[in-house]
Amino acid sequence: MLTFTPEQRRRFAADIDGEYQPKTKKPIVLVGLMGSGKTALGKRLAVALGLSFVDSDTIIEKKSGLLIRNIFEISGEAKFREMEHKTILSNLKSSPVILSTGGGAFCNPKTRAAIKTHAISVWLDAKPTDLLHRIGNTSSRPLLNAGDPLQILSDLRQQRMADYQQAELHVKTGRHSLRLSMKKILNILEQNSYIEAVSDKNDK
Ligand code: S3P
Repeated sequence: MLTFTPEQRRRFAADIDGEYQPKTKKPIVLVGLMGSGKTALGKRLAVALGLSFVDSDTIIEKKSGLLIRNIFEISGEAKFREMEHKTILSNLKSSPVILSTGGGAFCNPKTRAAIKTHAISVWLDAKPTDLLHRIGNTSSRPLLNAGDPLQILSDLRQQRMADYQQAELHVKTGRHSLRLSMKKILNILEQNSYIEAVSDKNDK
């Protein structure tokens, strides 16, 4: 679980309009391609709802003492997917959290099935050019270093689309600001009765 400093909380809170609280005890799991905003938006969503935030890649790196790209180099992708599956599974069964997953997690049938059973899944979606714009430096993403990153992202989007479409909720993050994407995520969660607005304390 990541704990935020007061300064981070203030920064994240600046991108959140309104006050909300969860109405569900299920974890909210963010899925989607690299660069779709899962980590940045997940942190803000956790602050908005007063929940803990976990990021499967960060947990894997902390536990193994290795960077994701080194795990791919040393042990290969299949081993990484196994570690990812175990990490996600163990966080689905703890108290309600916001869980940000690595881009391929929801495309592993076992992991997807577990998320669909135990959590609310939100697919964050953007075009490959927008994803790459947000990613910037691709050196920490091993899958993007095997050729032209834009082409790889386009191919991955095609290959993974049918998996991501199985997520319960769909939010297009495009090149939107974090504030606008947060608004869209909070709106869709509220429309589906997973969260509710907390009435303004100043209201009579
Ligand atoms: C991957 C996405 C990465 C990381 C790994 C594999 C993928 O996470 O899990 O490099 O298969 O799309 P982010 O989506 O957080 O970049």
